[in-house]
Amino acid sequence: MKRIGILTRDCAGINACIRAVVRTACHRGIEVVGVCRGYEGLIENNFKPLDKRAVSGIINLGGTILKTARSKEFLTQQGQDKAVENITGQKIDGMIVIGGNGSLIGAHILADKYRIPTIGIPATIDNDVNGIELTIGADTAVNVAVDCLDKIRDTATSLERIFVVEVMGRDSGYIALQVALAGGCEEVLLPEMNFDMEKICNEIEQGNTAGKVSWIIITAEGKAGASSIADIITKRTGLETRVVVLGHIQRGGMPTAMDRILAARLGKYAVDALLNGESDKCVGLNSGKRIIVPLSEAIKPKEIDVDECYKLIKILT
Ligand code: F6P
Repeated sequence: MKRIGILTRDCAGINACIRAVVRTACHRGIEVVGVCRGYEGLIENNFKPLDKRAVSGIINLGGTILKTARSKEFLTQQGQDKAVENITGQKIDGMIVIGGNGSLIGAHILADKYRIPTIGIPATIDNDVNGIELTIGADTAVNVAVDCLDKIRDTATSLERIFVVEVMGRDSGYIALQVALAGGCEEVLLPEMNFDMEKICNEIEQGNTAGKVSWIIITAEGKAGASSIADIITKRTGLETRVVVLGHIQRGGMPTAMDRILAARLGKYAVDALLNGESDKCVGLNSGKRIIVPLSEAIKPKEIDVDECYKLIKILT
């Protein structure tokens, strides 16, 4: 293997991972070429060479220096054929794909259907890659959201108000659960759990009677809109509510030290795996130790045990 390609999605820590891949490859005498704009760039033949100096000063930057895009065309046979033609045209011997579920599905197609040696690196704020303990970007997202929450709490406490705060995670309650626990929140609504608004309103009323006057309720983006939840609470209890939607600020920003370290370790591991002849696999760490799982497993839905954390949140309220 002489030349490898690297393609990314975006979240905090991805640039640190690009740097680790490029510098590990250079250390081993391998050339690296970056794919600009994700799978869309593969189809458009949008590549740029990356050497050691090209990745200077990016370890602390959010986003991806390669830019990225969602690609509908890559979901088609024609789009995939074009992408593979361009990979071959660029004399790329193996691919490293850094991203979440959608990116890893693409990586599996390259490896399984087109026999291009491909290794995935899990990176998504949702931490929903099956078989992988922690994805790059999740720690930063949780820390960004908790930082915001601490600020929201100041007003919630001072004005004795109810806040409904929406965090990201269309299909995953990971951020919501972590943020609710770390932020000392009263309630959390997750895609993985049913919720009962009547019960929540009763708790608020009972809490208020007992002298508890400020509440922070976290909802995951995919569960129910923060506004609709706030409306129900106001209508049912007569209490004033405020809504905050944190949105994409959770996906950007400077990666935490934990994300940078994870990115560095997985970047190196991915290059090692590719050069050792591995393909169609996703690298990760489990209790600090390297693991490698088939991409066909990694792209399956990840089940998270919400029960223990949820119960703890309710005990600590
Ligand atoms: O998968 C990561 C994620 O940020 C989800 O939490 C969110 O639902 C989705 O991406 C949003 O995607 P987009 O930025 O394309 O709207």
